[in-house]
Amino acid sequence: MSAKPEPFDAIILGAGGAGLMCAAIAGQRGKRVLVIDHADEPGKKILISGGGRCNFTNVHTAADRYLSANPHFAKSALARYTPADFLALVETYGIAWHEKTLGQLFCDGSARQIVAMLLDECARGDVEVALGAPASDIDHGDGQYRVCFGGRQAVAPALVIATGGPSIPKMGATDFAYGLARRFGLSIVEPRPALVPLTLGPDEQLFRDLSGVAAPVVARCGKTRFAEAALFTHRGLSGPAILQISSYWRHGEPIGINFLPDQQRGWLVAAKRQRPRVSLRGALSGLLPDRLVQALAQRLPPVAELGGLTDALLNEVEAQFADWQFAPTGTEGFAKAEVTIGGIATAGLSSQTMMANKLLGLYAIGEAVDVTGWLGGYNFQWAWASGAAAGRAL
Ligand code: FDA
Repeated sequence: MSAKPEPFDAIILGAGGAGLMCAAIAGQRGKRVLVIDHADEPGKKILISGGGRCNFTNVHTAADRYLSANPHFAKSALARYTPADFLALVETYGIAWHEKTLGQLFCDGSARQIVAMLLDECARGDVEVALGAPASDIDHGDGQYRVCFGGRQAVAPALVIATGGPSIPKMGATDFAYGLARRFGLSIVEPRPALVPLTLGPDEQLFRDLSGVAAPVVARCGKTRFAEAALFTHRGLSGPAILQISSYWRHGEPIGINFLPDQQRGWLVAAKRQRPRVSLRGALSGLLPDRLVQALAQRLPPVAELGGLTDALLNEVEAQFADWQFAPTGTEGFAKAEVTIGGIATAGLSSQTMMANKLLGLYAIGEAVDVTGWLGGYNFQWAWASGAAAGRAL
């Protein structure tokens, strides 16, 4: 270890989206910034995001698309660094992009362009990025934070926790942020996997046999609903609608799935009037994938002809299709979760600057904080916005 600590204005732990954005902005404001990451490459989650094309923001960004113990916390940062701000940066770098669905913006080319852009922005601010160097022996005294890394020692009046959450540990994700935050007096909202596939138990084996079948649905948990595709897997349920609803799901709660969200109310009775000799399976075929029709029909009373059933019974069957109940046994856990819900409690942070209320110079940004977005570019927008908020304040 070097004998003499090297002085910086800010030490940022974590070279992900939030840390790099924060570093670039602070560096370009003339601050001497050091970013430390234990990974051998920066922005690994950016690189794998959006199937390699990085869904870098969502034009519909608003605080109500984020989960947090304080639903108002994200408003200030999101308002001061918007999707348009990030897009302007993307365009400055000539990175081609497109809108996919639901306001989701992706690179036409590769997520590597986003990482290269952030690194270039850091370089313009003379930021030092130290990779492959776990941070250790972090302490605070006399208004200075001290960090050891890679045989060196750095000191600064500001320390930014940007080490993300524990989702996808095989990529180097850790719960390091929580331990460090606790040591400095911040509390943690219980972390749990989010945007994650749900598992089904043996009672629902029928559906597990449908592995690979997808359908557009409306998935519901309590009063929250998402209209997107659901996908059956060999373990349970996945696809965007399920990933979205998983963030709202708690153990023991049922998930309701409307398999026929585009059908008008009373469609089954109408089908009986038009085709009384048709079977239930016949009425469903063409509306849903065949394998799904077979599986669902096995769970219903055998229906030879719609004409043989009362309207009341058909309305009951229709209601079942509109809110088919599943009882997930769990989630596929942090190993498969796109993000972590919970984290460093916002109650201890300033929503303007992301600095701890009770400890001068300590900041927390990005996924490490208890702010979790919907699927579709919202989480990166939070990383940019919270990183920018801290970067302007450092
Ligand atoms: P992030 O996790 O990106 O960065 C933290 C950094 O800290 C990492 O570089 C890590 O190596 C480092 N670190 C961790 N522990 C450390 C330690 N002890 N010491 C030093 N360094 C440490 N979101 C979105 O909006 N659009 C999308 O398309 C996707 N797609 C997507 C796909 C997949 C497969 C995943 C897993 C996630 C997504 N996401 C996403 C979510 C998005 O990737 C996530 O919200 C952001 O990367 C969070 O950015 P942060 O900078 O906060 O953490």
